[in-house]
Amino acid sequence: MHEYYPILIVGALVGIFSLIFLVAYLTIRKQKEAIGFERNMKDGVIIKRLLSYAKPYLGNFLLALFLMFFSVAYDVISPLMVGWIEEMIKVDFELNRLYTMVAIYAVILIVSLVCTFLQALLLQKTGQRIMSNIRKDLFEHIESLSHGQLNEIPVGKLVTRVTNDTNAISMMFTNILVNLIKNAFVILFVLFAMFFLNYELTLMVLCFVPFIVFFTFVFRKFTRKAYRKVKDGTTDINTFLSEHLSGMKIIQIFNKEAVKKNQFDKKNKTLGRAKTEQILVFGIFRPLVYMLYISSVLCLFYLCGKGYIDHTEFLGQVINGGTLVTFYMYINKFYNPIQSLAEQFNWLQSAFASAEKIFTVMDIQPVITDCPNPIELEHVKGDIEFRHVWFAYVPGEWVLKDISFTVKARETVAFVGSTGSGKTTILSLICRNYDIQKGEILLDGIDVRKISVSSLRRHFGQMLQDVFLFSGTVRSNIVLGKTDVSDKEVLDACRYVNADRFICRLKNGLDEEVRERGNNFSAGQRQLLSFARTIVHKPEIMILDEATANIDTETEQLIQNSLERMMNIGTMLIVAHRLSTVKNADKIFYLSNGQILEEGTHAELLKNKGKYFDLYTLQQDRKKLSAPSENETPNLCKV
Ligand SMILES: Nc1ncnc2c1ncn2[C@@H]1O[C@H](COP(=O)(O)OP(=O)(O)O)[C@@H](O)[C@H]1O
Ligand SMILES: [Mg+2]
Repeated sequence: MHEYYPILIVGALVGIFSLIFLVAYLTIRKQKEAIGFERNMKDGVIIKRLLSYAKPYLGNFLLALFLMFFSVAYDVISPLMVGWIEEMIKVDFELNRLYTMVAIYAVILIVSLVCTFLQALLLQKTGQRIMSNIRKDLFEHIESLSHGQLNEIPVGKLVTRVTNDTNAISMMFTNILVNLIKNAFVILFVLFAMFFLNYELTLMVLCFVPFIVFFTFVFRKFTRKAYRKVKDGTTDINTFLSEHLSGMKIIQIFNKEAVKKNQFDKKNKTLGRAKTEQILVFGIFRPLVYMLYISSVLCLFYLCGKGYIDHTEFLGQVINGGTLVTFYMYINKFYNPIQSLAEQFNWLQSAFASAEKIFTVMDIQPVITDCPNPIELEHVKGDIEFRHVWFAYVPGEWVLKDISFTVKARETVAFVGSTGSGKTTILSLICRNYDIQKGEILLDGIDVRKISVSSLRRHFGQMLQDVFLFSGTVRSNIVLGKTDVSDKEVLDACRYVNADRFICRLKNGLDEEVRERGNNFSAGQRQLLSFARTIVHKPEIMILDEATANIDTETEQLIQNSLERMMNIGTMLIVAHRLSTVKNADKIFYLSNGQILEEGTHAELLKNKGKYFDLYTLQQDRKKLSAPSENETPNLCKV
């Protein structure tokens, strides 16, 4: 019995380590559970949805599986061959036979390497395609969300979904799925071969399996949480970054660099800690499995070495040198996939967590959708009517209260009133950026909810408060992807709205680069570009929101002039702070607190001597005070 003491000692050491590990796990588990990263979607649901993306590439996966068998074959056959070579060298050595065996070994190795390479290539390609499909769907879905829904999700979060999370899924398809199957097969075949070769030694190796199972189980629990923490940290940082990089100028202007740096530091540290934790978990698991591996090898060497030296057998079986070498290699081939299996399961979990996040975004039902059998509007006259419209962004907090008015085709109407009175809201309701809660909005006598959203919006040209220019060129910002627009049309549109004056001074004209958000153009220039954009799209109804705010008097005149021209194109709804802009409107509505207080033409409203009159006289007085001196020459290109 005493000859088995070394094995017992090794077993006892492994047992003690497991116990320490268990105690550590149980003590930390409580505080871990408090973090709550559990998922809401069932694994089955996620798998089903992911598989629907993989289905078109089933052939590729099958081919990859087929190729995989060659690398499995190498893993199983190579130790046997090394064993045979070992035995041959020892028992009846023959150089030619050695050459043949080495050559066969080399061929098997090369075939397996080539197959592994092809398989990786195939899976990478497939994974990338699946990922790009998911990204496309996700982007399309985000496009379909309403303004209100988009306001609720931080941009950084969406960016993370489209980039990081889709990456995790791609990793699942390229790396994890097939390798998981491969590893399972390697373990199975290696075990089978070991049993076939020497079941007694195999039983010895199997004694360590319960420990492996236990470590793996504990490890999985730890890593799952670590992964989620890392993910949440990444999303958090991305959200913070995307918002603060856009607002960096404000941070600098208000001298808030230190405050923001501290906030960023905190998030950064949280992510750093999460990553460290993740690495720590791996750092503990890998050596533990390695310890088991070394223990098995030690036991093997002990048993086999004993056999050689003492000429004794293990459990009645004679062990030769070949068996020792083969088993040594098999133990390695057995532990490697076990270690990666556990890690791959975690990656799989992480991919599932990402998939869940992506599907959660995809499951947000767009609220602004077409009704069944929507009306496709081919031509629009431009009559607009609001009938007792009530609207609230937040349920119960009415922003518009019982608004009713009509606008006839080709009329120009203006909305004036104090900030927050609901002017922008009215404009955004007409083309269904939001849906109203009570009442009706009619376009040419048809409820806008009965018209298909795309055909409805096609007839509107919206020029909003802050003009958004995309990075690209002046031309690309004017045509916005419309393909059938000639340069002449673009230039005509620019001329029509007086934008040609500054464009002609640009070094590259229409090809001048526009940087992100158009930050290399002045507010007035951006405004004029947005006018040109609208003109090119030939809308029947134009919506203009506070275009003349923050613009100098000369530019205002330019814009005023282009506006007057645009008024001839179709129905026009304007919100303006400067009443000079709206003097010529057919009808003016004075709004206060979500209600229309006064309506009429400029002259009528002045005659009424109500709120509009007060506002007008106030602005006239101010104008007189700040009128420029007469010898100052206006510089129109300073737009
Ligand atoms: N996206 C939104 N979510 C919640 N409330 C909003 C939103 N947009 C505007 N509001 C609120 O609606 C009211 C009217 O806003 P708005 O129509 O933009 O006013 P105006 O254009 O007349 O200055 C304001 O009290 C504002 O706080
Ligand atoms: Mg507004």
